[in-house]
Amino acid sequence: MKNITMKGIILAGGSGTRLYPLTLVTSKQLLPIYDKPMIYYPLSVLMLAGIKDILIISTPMDLPRFKALLGDGSTLGINLSYVSQSSPDGLAQAFILGEEFIGDNPCALILGDNIFFGDGLSRHLSNSVERAMRGEATIYTYYVNDPERFGVCEFDERGYPTNIVEKAPNPKSNYAVTGLYFYPKGVSEKAKTLVPSPRGELEITDLNNLYLRARQMHVTFLSRGYAWLDTGTHESMMDAAQFVQSIETHQGLKICCPEEISYLNGWIRKEDLERIGKTMANNEYGRHLINVASGKVKAWSKL
Ligand code: DAU
Repeated sequence: MKNITMKGIILAGGSGTRLYPLTLVTSKQLLPIYDKPMIYYPLSVLMLAGIKDILIISTPMDLPRFKALLGDGSTLGINLSYVSQSSPDGLAQAFILGEEFIGDNPCALILGDNIFFGDGLSRHLSNSVERAMRGEATIYTYYVNDPERFGVCEFDERGYPTNIVEKAPNPKSNYAVTGLYFYPKGVSEKAKTLVPSPRGELEITDLNNLYLRARQMHVTFLSRGYAWLDTGTHESMMDAAQFVQSIETHQGLKICCPEEISYLNGWIRKEDLERIGKTMANNEYGRHLINVASGKVKAWSKL
């Protein structure tokens, strides 16, 4: 029997104009969120889901910098590939650009600027992977006070999802659809049936509605114990950085540290983790890796 492998895509393109001048010469997803590049956060989420085959999509200009940072992924015990997106024609285009990479497998997508944090996330992620293997998609929703800025999931009186609307002026609920999606095999074919929206994009919301209408969509609610952080503006980037700093400083642990997750997943050895740590032993990040490798820091949860 053919092996089915859960694949993952990080979409890290876009023009980043809202962050000018920060993004004039570099990609938004390479900017720091406290002690690590932004892309480490979504990368960590895919790795927590147990996904080892990951495609990074970015602009032709920025792709070489992502390659310089992460290479083929072997240092992290994963397989990274890269594809460029010449213009930001919509999130669902990721599945067309990634068609060859996905093959006949289920696939997750995470936006390169989305940060997720909270106890129990790993369990939610593995449930989503299992559902995708069985033929069901998953989206994650999060209560927000400015739903008009997002894709929003609407529900009937019994709480069943009925529709997803994209940036509606008066959405019927406050449950934003976050930038983390899991799909069963066949997602590229479905994406190819989409037509561009009035704003000229292949909308992830249109794709999600196809699964919803076919009753193949599960909605996972991220409750109040979770943080879903936006990094779209200077203010929200600063907020996200302070959030990470506050958690890490209070606990003396790191969050969304791909090297540590890889080690705890059993994908790299203790010596590998120690070697990476030693390359940055003059800061807290490197010392944390060394301490995890030596057993001085012993936290069983991965996030
Ligand atoms: O963050 C969650 C929201 O993401 C969802 O609630 C919406 O349903 C979904 O459409 C999307 O909202 P935005 O339209 O605001 O996404 P934005 O255009 O800001 O793109 C999200 C990230 O993806 C951004 O960092 C740029 C990158 N991107 C975007 C497009 C359209 C690409 O890499 N390629 C693209 O073609």
